[in-house]
Amino acid sequence: MTAKPYHVYITRKIPQPAIDLLEEYCTVTYNEIEDALTPEQLKNAVKDKDAILSMFYDKFTPEVLDCCNKAKIVANFAVGFENLDIPAATERGIYLSNTPGVLNIATAETAWALIFAVARNIPAMDAVCRTGKMDSWSPFGYLGQEITGKTLGVIGAGRIGSAMIHMAKGFHMPVLYSAHSPKPELEQETGAIFTDLDTLLKKSDIISIHAPATPETKYLISKTQFEMMKTTAILINTARGQLINTQDLIWALENKVIAGAGIDVFENEPYVTPGLEKLSNLVMTPHIGSATYETRVNMGLTAARNIIAALKGELPPNCLNPDAKQK
Ligand code: GLV
Repeated sequence: MTAKPYHVYITRKIPQPAIDLLEEYCTVTYNEIEDALTPEQLKNAVKDKDAILSMFYDKFTPEVLDCCNKAKIVANFAVGFENLDIPAATERGIYLSNTPGVLNIATAETAWALIFAVARNIPAMDAVCRTGKMDSWSPFGYLGQEITGKTLGVIGAGRIGSAMIHMAKGFHMPVLYSAHSPKPELEQETGAIFTDLDTLLKKSDIISIHAPATPETKYLISKTQFEMMKTTAILINTARGQLINTQDLIWALENKVIAGAGIDVFENEPYVTPGLEKLSNLVMTPHIGSATYETRVNMGLTAARNIIAALKGELPPNCLNPDAKQK
């Protein structure tokens, strides 16, 4: 057997099909502890590797990138890439990539799961059944909100937001969306209407966030925005925790400024901000947006294809910095 010329390091074990694909070209090693690497561990691990397959929480700061002495690429196993310092990697001749497209359905389905869980109070209803506290059926028992026909507001109409908008057709929901610019094709296909954020917040019954974490979107939803929403509104966040000011969310839910919220992402993951756990009108899930086996396989294969392209001297299909001058 000929020795494989490249060494790829994976910062957390990923599904086997992606490892198998990489092993056709490279020697693969990965972090065997089922936890995130500390910054120091990351710095040591990336040394002398030809490529790194990273998680969205691995922060590739200039200091960490300086330790990537041989790496041609850092390929994120995520669509989000706020952990990657793009100018610093470009300067160092390291390609960066993400996994767009393959997790749209799984993430949009998670948002829908949260919508229904909040609207019909599913976690509490489940608890009622498990704890033997079920009351006899009553006309006013366990009432929730209906979703069909309500107005959906989608903040950010990229791939995941667009999947969300397409799915809303099934529930006959008028859709408002806000984005950097209107999307005529999406509007034609779905009837969605482009609007500014304030109008969306005021008019929507359900608001779902699908925008990336950037300095501009930090605390996009704070007290002022909660005050614009309907008191019956439900807010869903499957994007990034930093888009909502968590203390203002707690205030809005405690004071019934809005009816409820469903969140899959947190400001300081995996830490859950104290106070959230006390709110009965909040449903939380532990960042499971892309957590289906088929999606995780496809994310792994996408990241692997980006790595293989870079190692072959080609532009990775999902390259975030094509200007990086390769070593
Ligand atoms: C996960 O949150 C991702 O960005 O893929």
